[in-house]
Amino acid sequence: MKLWGGRFTKETNQLVHNFNASISFDQKFYHQDIEGSIAHVKMLAKQGILTEEDKEKIVNGLMGIREDLEKGILVITGEHEDIHSFVEAVLTERIGEAGKRLHTGRSRNDQVALDMKLYTRDEIDELSSLVKGLLEELLKLMEENLDIYMPGFTHLQKAQPITLAHHIGAYYEMFDRDRSRLHDIKKRMNYCPLGSGALAGTTYPLDREYTAELLGFDGPTLNSMDSVADRDYLIELLSALSTIAMHLSRFCEEIIIWNTNEYRFVEIDDSYSTGSSIMPQKKNPDIAELIRGKTGRVYGALVSMLTTMKGIPLAYNKDMQEDKELTFDAIDTVKGCLALFTGMMSTMTFRKAEMEASAKNGFTNATDAADYLVNHGVAFRDAHGIVGQLVLFCIEKGIALDDMSLEEYKAISPVFEEDIYEAISLKTCVEKRTTIGAPGQEAMKKVIEIYKKRLEKQD
Ligand code: ARG
Repeated sequence: MKLWGGRFTKETNQLVHNFNASISFDQKFYHQDIEGSIAHVKMLAKQGILTEEDKEKIVNGLMGIREDLEKGILVITGEHEDIHSFVEAVLTERIGEAGKRLHTGRSRNDQVALDMKLYTRDEIDELSSLVKGLLEELLKLMEENLDIYMPGFTHLQKAQPITLAHHIGAYYEMFDRDRSRLHDIKKRMNYCPLGSGALAGTTYPLDREYTAELLGFDGPTLNSMDSVADRDYLIELLSALSTIAMHLSRFCEEIIIWNTNEYRFVEIDDSYSTGSSIMPQKKNPDIAELIRGKTGRVYGALVSMLTTMKGIPLAYNKDMQEDKELTFDAIDTVKGCLALFTGMMSTMTFRKAEMEASAKNGFTNATDAADYLVNHGVAFRDAHGIVGQLVLFCIEKGIALDDMSLEEYKAISPVFEEDIYEAISLKTCVEKRTTIGAPGQEAMKKVIEIYKKRLEKQD
């Protein structure tokens, strides 16, 4: 059963086998393992290391195994150490002698390095298209909510008025960077380790450029020791996944706040909410909370991977087998979070009246009142002090700046005239902000056009 049994005189202890085996999780990349083997065998035949006849048998055998696994006719069982051993054993069982030639000029070290790269490369594409789906949803929401005014916050205190589109746009930026990070990782990792052997290459005349090309890589890796020992790209991916999870978590935190009885800025759809077993009135934002919660798990994978790698001498060591479960889990977790978050956003109701009322009631136009004074010749520091007095006056009376009479304004500063009301209206406060990146509609529309073009250009 073991690929390496020849040198041993005793059976492996069962607990050792269980502890050492990776088949329970590395079966996840059976598809990529077979894809890599097919490329390897084609190259061996091209180089005259294998006969055409053996190549045909092996390739057909491998394709048959893949098909049967997909159909569920063939089932992966636990007695094999890993997916590589399983495939080779089944192949030899099915096609005889030729199966034993599959592993010529290859080690499981370069094989597993290849499989993991092929697997993560495919997953990066899926992650990227999930982030793209989210970006499209956010873009749609931005276009629909260009004139929905709401308070912008600093220190979770109302600061200045913005629009819902502008707030969503901040997250658009974050997820757009996340997507470009995924693309960067793919570009940097896309070199093929196959042909590096155990650590020192092989004596066979392998054509590594050919296998790299067959498998869609930009070329072969250039150092056989690094090839079998490099897991940097996984660390980069886990870091990018952690950043995506962090961004999702921040947005979820805001949605949870916005969904409270106190804020009522949004209502999460019934289909994305859950209830309480005891309190009949409850409708809880569990999905947003779970996405926020799962962030810890993704960070955990990153820290585990960094820690696992920090003490490993060159080249391959079995510690590296630990890369799989945590990477798979982090990928699956973030994929789930992205899909759920996008669904939650697309079904959520935004309570526009509540957002606007909140922006009106929190002195978010105080800076604009000060700017009004500055435009009438008052030094900014003095203007700041005058508006401070206005705010104090309003707090005592329980009113907004917009509700003060002109006499009341003039009692604090004679500079104020009738046009102060227009100057501090929500609409003016927002729409006057037209520099690129600001919330005014004019600026936002330009930015949305840039986003659309960028999204079209990327696959
Ligand atoms: N299951 C192993 C891993 O994931 C495959 C490589 C085994 N190589 C070895 N020299 N024992 O890393």
